[in-house]
Amino acid sequence: MKVLLVGSGGREHAMAAALSRSPLLDQLLIGPGNAGTASLGENVLLSISDIPGIVSLAEDRSIDLVIVGPEAPLAEGLTDELKIAGIPVFGPSQSAARIESSKSWAKQLMARHGVPTAGFATFHNEQESLQHIHALDEGSIVVKADGLAAGKGVIIAGSRKEASKAVTDMMHGGMFGDAGATVVIEECMTGPEVSVFAFVDGQTVSNEVAACDYKRAYDGDIGPNTGGMGAYTPPEFWTPELAMQVRAEILEPIATAMDAEGASFTGTLYAGLMLTESGPRVIEFNCRFGDPEAQVVLSRLETDLLEIALAAANGKLDQIDVQWNDQAAVCVVMASGGYPGSYETGKPISGLASISGDTEVFHAGTVEAEDGTVLTAGGRVLDVVARGSDIFEARTTAYAITQAINFEGVEYRRDIATRAVKSPAP
Ligand code: AMP
Ligand code: GLY
Repeated sequence: MKVLLVGSGGREHAMAAALSRSPLLDQLLIGPGNAGTASLGENVLLSISDIPGIVSLAEDRSIDLVIVGPEAPLAEGLTDELKIAGIPVFGPSQSAARIESSKSWAKQLMARHGVPTAGFATFHNEQESLQHIHALDEGSIVVKADGLAAGKGVIIAGSRKEASKAVTDMMHGGMFGDAGATVVIEECMTGPEVSVFAFVDGQTVSNEVAACDYKRAYDGDIGPNTGGMGAYTPPEFWTPELAMQVRAEILEPIATAMDAEGASFTGTLYAGLMLTESGPRVIEFNCRFGDPEAQVVLSRLETDLLEIALAAANGKLDQIDVQWNDQAAVCVVMASGGYPGSYETGKPISGLASISGDTEVFHAGTVEAEDGTVLTAGGRVLDVVARGSDIFEARTTAYAITQAINFEGVEYRRDIATRAVKSPAP
């Protein structure tokens, strides 16, 4: 089969690695890809926001299946356009991608179908949202921009005053552009967070897998939010009972609800959950794999990813038994100095050649220079992923590898997965 994978980050490098292991794969094209994906297939020039360009590339190159990594092209209707052109695709339609691209639609869907989530109200009008905040009890209030804001559209306000300022910034100050024209004001939940993933083909929800990610820039969960500085799987608190509860109360009801409401979901469903005192509740849904969670969970996928994607695209996921092994995996993200603020690029990376064994280094933001040197090209540069029989082993290996790799200004968190290690961390 000839497959086109859309995207260019560490998630897509990890997906490309999983697809490369498939006996069904004849040729892999990655658009636009990065210096890492170039070793697994052919990087092709495309812009992920150019939907017609992607469709004509898939037609010209006689692609048998398109697999979409990031949310933006899904929210823009890439799946719908590919289907019109008769090209099979693994990824939700524009209408199903609203589970991520419109927080208010997702929250209302959850409310209609009894899927547990934080209490909320949606507003299109600044004055009404300010009145609503005024009537709430004093304390933490969550304010979210309705649309896609690259993971940054959420303000956890410590008081009504802060929450009101957040609303004004979003609705009046254009803080998140059009994404902030509608706001969702939510009750603030507390508890451990977990990301849960399952493949879905409209009706069938595959076996799920769970991981934890680290969104803050610095050790101890302080500093600004980032795209993700590390991840590990399985979470130390994840039990078969909890998994069953999450399936029964969240994953299956939401897939059924979407199907019943004419927004049938096909692709990777990502449930971001908070384990509150009253049980697991949804923080948000996403319509694709997490980044960097994909880098750890895909290392536990025993089943052929291409076979899964193909079956899901054809509505035959019920014929595949998706299995995740019980190994542990830890990912440490190596970032450019200054990220998520401003940073320099074009720094040569050393130590990449020394990697072997139960580890992989996925590229998140790199380019290959003409002389073959790999240079930094983004905020998040590399994802060091190690497997092990437990988190301690995987974590120890991952951190040993980070020491072998270097580039000017490199920054990474030293505390990824520390809380999941039973014996004292090294
Ligand atoms: P989101 O972009 O919706 O995933 O939100 C980003 C982060 O904000 C989440 O990972 C949570 O840590 C936090 N968050 C979002 N919604 C809530 C909520 N209702 N209560 C508490 N924390 C939240
Ligand atoms: N790791 C969080 C995300 O992919 O949205």
